[in-house]
Formats: sequence, C-alpha cells, structure tokens
Amino acid sequence: MTTKVAAYPFQIQSFEQYKIVYEESIKYPEKFWATVATNFQWKKPWDKVLEWNFKEPKVEWFQGAELNITENCLDRHLEKLGDKPAIIWEPNNPNESIRTFTYTQLFQQVCLFAQVLQNNGVKKGDRVCIYMGMIPELTIAILACARIGAIHSVIFGGFSAQSIADRVNDAQSTFVITCDGAFRGGKDIALKAVIDEALNENQFVKKIIVYSRTKISVSMKNGRDVWWDNEMKIATDQFKKKETNYFPAATMDAEDPLFILYTSGSTGKPKGVVHTCAGYMVWVTYTFVNVFQYQPKQIHFCTADIGWVTGHSYIIYGPLCAGATSLMFEGIPTWPNAGRFWDIIDKHQVNIFYTAPTAIRSLMGFGLEPLKEKNLSSLKILGTVGEPINEEAWHWYDENIGKKKCPIVDTWWQTETGGTMISNMAGITPSKPSWATLPMPGVELLLVDENGKEVSEKDEHGMLKGNLCIKSPWPGMLRTTYGDHERCRKNYFSTYENLYFTGDGALKDENGFFRITGRVDDVLNVSGHRIGTAEVENAINRHLGVVESAVVGYPHEIKGQGIYAFVVYNGNQLNEKETRNDIVLVVNKIIGSFAKPNKIQFVLGLPKTRSGKIMRRILRKIAMGEVENLGDISTLLEPSVVAAIAKGRI
Ligand code: WT7
Repeated sequence: MTTKVAAYPFQIQSFEQYKIVYEESIKYPEKFWATVATNFQWKKPWDKVLEWNFKEPKVEWFQGAELNITENCLDRHLEKLGDKPAIIWEPNNPNESIRTFTYTQLFQQVCLFAQVLQNNGVKKGDRVCIYMGMIPELTIAILACARIGAIHSVIFGGFSAQSIADRVNDAQSTFVITCDGAFRGGKDIALKAVIDEALNENQFVKKIIVYSRTKISVSMKNGRDVWWDNEMKIATDQFKKKETNYFPAATMDAEDPLFILYTSGSTGKPKGVVHTCAGYMVWVTYTFVNVFQYQPKQIHFCTADIGWVTGHSYIIYGPLCAGATSLMFEGIPTWPNAGRFWDIIDKHQVNIFYTAPTAIRSLMGFGLEPLKEKNLSSLKILGTVGEPINEEAWHWYDENIGKKKCPIVDTWWQTETGGTMISNMAGITPSKPSWATLPMPGVELLLVDENGKEVSEKDEHGMLKGNLCIKSPWPGMLRTTYGDHERCRKNYFSTYENLYFTGDGALKDENGFFRITGRVDDVLNVSGHRIGTAEVENAINRHLGVVESAVVGYPHEIKGQGIYAFVVYNGNQLNEKETRNDIVLVVNKIIGSFAKPNKIQFVLGLPKTRSGKIMRRILRKIAMGEVENLGDISTLLEPSVVAAIAKGRI
C-alpha cells in the first residue's frame, strides 16, 4: 500500500515519525482515523468517526459509512494487482501440488461461492459456522460470507463435537460449511463426522456444505447436506447463462457484524467475540502494513490456524486488504520432519515469517540439524504472537532463523482487540528481546493496581508493574459478546471503571516499553491456545467418578503453560492410571485434545475459604513446586488439606 496522506503516512517510515503520529493519534483520534480510513474503498462515507462510552459499553467507528470488506480485499486490487498471487497454498504433503490464487482468481471463486451461499438460502445477517481444515476453500468460504453479509463463525478444527454444538447453538448458526476431513501431519481428521455428532440434536441448521478434501466416505443427510463441488458447478452455469462472473457485494453498515469468534474466559462458557466491518478492516490493515512494514512484492507467511484470530487478521483480512501475497499452510511444523517451516520458506521465498513462541521452542528442541542446507536468505522480517517469548527462544530465532539480519516483531494482542496493540514496527521502532515494546498509534495504555489506580511506584529495576488496561477505543476492538452484551460489559469493562481490562499483567520500563508478563485471571495459555480453567474443570467434572476439580497452569518448557488438575475422586477403589486416562478422554470429548491436562493429581479435598471459594493461589504454587512458601493459609476452612496436597505433588 503506497497511498500517502500528507499529515499521516499510511505506513510509518521512521521512529521519529512514529512518535509524532502516535502523539497525534491520541490527541486527535477522529482526525487521525479519518485520514487512515481514506486508504480504503467506501460505498458511502461516514457521518461521524467515533462515538463511545465504556460504561455500556458502546463503541461505534465510522458511523453512517457503508462498505463491503471483500471489495477492499479483492475488487479494488483487480485492476493493478489482478495477476498477483493473493493466496499461495502449501499442502500438508510436500509432494502434492501447491495451489496459487491470483487476486482475479480468488475474486472469481469468492463470487461463485457467494452465489452458492445465496442459492442455498444464506442471507445477510445469518450466522454461518465454518469448520474446515487449512485449505484455500476455507478462505473462499470466509470471504464469500463477508461478501453477502453473512456473519462467519469459524471453529478451530481441534474442537470436539460438544464444543461445536455449544458454539453453533450460542450463535444460532443456521448454516455450516465443512470438509469430509482434514490432513494434519500424518493424520486424517474426520471433520464431517464430528459435525454430524455435534448436530445430532440440532433442528435449526438448514444446510451443510461439504468440501471433499480427504475423500473419506461421509454420510450425507438428504435435503440438508450438499457437496461444495456440485454447488459450484451450478453457480458456474448460472454465471455462464448470465454472462457474468460478478457477484455484487452486499452493502454493509460500518457497524454491522463481520464475524463471531469464540474465545475462553474465566467462566465456563466460551464467549462469542463480535467484530464489525469497518473498524476491524481499518485496524487489521493498518497494523499489518505498519508492524510488518509490508513491501509490495513480499510474501507473508503466518503459521497460525485460521480457526484462531491470528489467522483471520493476518492470513486473510489484513494481508488481502493490503494487496499482499499471503501463504497458507495446511500442515504442521514437524511433518514430515522438523525442517518443514524452513523448507516452505526456501520453496516459496518467504519474506515475512510470523509464528508462535511455542512453535519456536518446539523446533529449538530438534537442534540445528533440521536447519542444515536451508538457505532462509529470503527472510526479511520475523514475528511472534500468542504468548510471552522467553529470551532464549528470542535469541535462537534471531540467530538461526533471522541470521541476525531480520527485525523480530513481538506482537501483543487478543481475540478481543482484533489486531496488534503493542509491538515494535519492523526496522522502524526499536526492539527489545521478550518485550512487545510500544503501543500502536491510537492505543492508549494504562497500568493499574488492584483498585484501578494508575501505578506510579517503580520497582527495584526501575519498572512499573500493573494490570494492563486500555483507556480509549481503537477501531478493531470487540463491540459485544454475541447474544449477551452484559457479559461483555462485565468481563472487560467492569473490573476498572471506564477502562478496558485485558486480563494481562505487564511491566513498563523507563523508555515506555511494555513487557507482557501473562494472564492475571483464570485463563491459561497452552501452546498459544487460550483455555479457561473453569472450562477444563467443567469437562473433568463430567467424569462420573469426579466430585470436584481445580485446574491451574504451571510453567511448561515447550507449551509455555501446562495444565495441572487437582481432582477429588469419589469411591474407594481408585485405579489412578486408568482414571487419569478416562479423565483425559472426557476432556478430549468435551473440549478437544489440546485442552487435556498434562498432570492429574488425586486429592482428598481442595483448599477452600470459609465461603467455599477454591484458593487457586495455593494450588498454583504447589503446581509450580513452591511448596515451601504457600503464604497465609489460616483463612482456609481446612488448612490441613494443603500439606497433603503439597506432599502428593507430581
Ligand atoms: C492472550 C490473547 C493475539 C492472537 C493470539 C492469541 C497472550 C498474545 C502475546 C505476546 C505476550 C501474548 C496474552 C493475551 N499474548 N500475544 N506477544 N506477548 N503475551 O489470542 O487467544 O485471544 O489470547 O495471549 O495473554 O491476553 P488470544
């Protein structure tokens, strides 16, 4: 993106400029974002740039404007970038052919599939659940939803039938798009069968569109289930008859929902985070272009799964709105061997590589052997996301992958923030190992103590330490949690008055750089996947023999955090090994295998206050091995249980 506006360049060019732009963006947010927004294609301009209060909360950006995000991702690039690859797809099996979609080809597929959706009765505002593997059709399905104004709700392929059922019901999704199966490493995962199980009792889903990827046999329910390929043929014929390959993009209000994405919180039920059309588009594009300093011919490879927000924002919407080439990978980093990412980088001459610290740590574990004969000289910029990166992993990444020539951007953000909030800008603003550093323009951060008072006392290293809050709205922020606005208010806007609370703790150094220290609530971060402790407990408690359980995180060398479950078991004949296996199976079934506990300790009772609240603080310390220094336990109902738990620690 090269469009420049006199006052604020769309792409910041120097640290000096960052400082000026940042200050202006905070002083005059409406003027600033109005200028940024001129870099997009609108069907109708806005009447008012911003209206907000964090009390309700109510946040509206570009009020009165009309647009369609797919015209910004596709149509507007056709003239100049029509033949440029939009999506390059690398299959799970390196011997299978790659697939490339130029902007023109992607546009045509999206138009056709939008027609398919319309033919099947999908209308603007309908919720469409998408449960597919990492194939180009996933991107096509998402964009086709956006084109007709249907709200997509993508569910990560690792979720179980039960989790899908909860999400489909919560969003009242009436359509599902899925695949027969998905290839991931050496495994074939049967997606359609999981959908069938999830929808066993569902009466509201009208159509399921199935793309055939793995060619395993699936059951197709007459009248409900249709094949992607057949439907595409019908749409192609319709287009031929009409002598067109164009499907008009629905006119969307700036604040119409674009998608729902479920994420875990500190309560048992996942929340449907809602993002809207205009603000999200502006935010992800602006942050993509600035953080990665994208240059016109570069190939961007984000290794995330599109089932998580990183994939939504930095495989699809951000890169495509910016006219970039985005590489999409179906497989996993360790298959057929631990050199797979590096092979992909060389094969496609990747310039920007964006991955998670857990992936880096896991690949570090294989030593330097998988890097032999890998060139990696195409790389210009590296990035990390999802969890704090430890210095050791940062340096390994810098030395062995970036060869000390590539800036590393450490991007802090959340499903709720839509896009990056704190990060250095590659080669433009300074980096500091394991520090996310400075806020994006428009992001006003505040560190507060438990009472919501701004922290002002520095610790012995000259750092401020507190809970990370955001003072004012940014375009990409969540607007609500689907179907339950009060929940959104309670979760994010009620802990501290007039502030958005992130749930993270942070440090701030003398330069104003931020370092995220991790969650301060009951949310775990396992291999970059966000998991609520209450969700895992609810699942464990579904095991018939379990009376109650408490789940905490503990430091894990590769995953960042591991899951430690303390379980009170009912009955005298406990076969620990068998029961552990059974509990793991239950968690697999209720949530998905990525949420299974790494350690399960059977205990006779949990440490509780007199009012019955589980003292997680104590359990966390035990799980971390700090059994000597458990703090004050005198307020416990039965202080004696603590010693027993500490003794039985695994
Ligand atoms: C939580 C959000 C952002 C997309 C992927 C995760 C942690 C995220 C960083 C980072 C330290 C990070 C935070 C945050 N987190 N990025 N660069 N440094 N911590 O999205 O599932 O919504 O999780 O991930 O704890 O709150 P998510």
